[in-house]
Amino acid sequence: MKFFIDTANLAQIKEAQALGILDGVTTNPSLMAKEGITGEANIINHYKAICELVDGDVSAEVIATDFDGMVKEGEVLAALHPQIVVKLPMIKDGIKACKYFSSKGIRTNVTLVFSAGQALLAAKAGATYVSPFIGRLDDISTDGLNLIAEIRTIYDNYGFETEILAASVRHTMHIIDCAKIGADVMTGPLSAIEGLLKHPLTDIGLAQFLKDYQKGN
Ligand code: E4P
Repeated sequence: MKFFIDTANLAQIKEAQALGILDGVTTNPSLMAKEGITGEANIINHYKAICELVDGDVSAEVIATDFDGMVKEGEVLAALHPQIVVKLPMIKDGIKACKYFSSKGIRTNVTLVFSAGQALLAAKAGATYVSPFIGRLDDISTDGLNLIAEIRTIYDNYGFETEILAASVRHTMHIIDCAKIGADVMTGPLSAIEGLLKHPLTDIGLAQFLKDYQKGN
């Protein structure tokens, strides 16, 4: 399972990269705004900075919502760095743009996916990644993990190569459950990734080992 970090915060990306387990980064316009990155030139420079920090894929989202605009923006983003994956919204023109980019060998991430039918369309359009937002489904009392399971079944039935990128991951159990279901990738905050490290028995055991070592020295 690939681990992506879902942030535009360079310090957090650096910290996750230093752990040695990071496979990529996802961003979105809200995450950029949260870091105070606004304006086309600053956003472009920020994508480049992220690509310099990590070895893996970096999703960069288009703002346009029409086919021509998405193609124009996506081509600029894809030309920035070989690690860039063009992130497209799950709307009619987004699917058309996905098909366009996949036929040109440009990698895509279809985002804002909330149903199995949307994920099926994204795969048929040749998306590299599909991003079902599990946390936002949970927020409205709908089982986000069930969507991951449905997409897994559909993709396996037909051998679609589109990778399931479980997005809107909020906590460690989301990560573990996605891994059990067979999501190809998860993207979440640093807190959820680091949460996987923690177990009180590890801390108690280590404290005891160090204490016992001291006894013999
Ligand atoms: C995915 O690519 C999105 O950036 C993200 O996972 C959205 O998560 P949120 O629901 O926590 O905003």
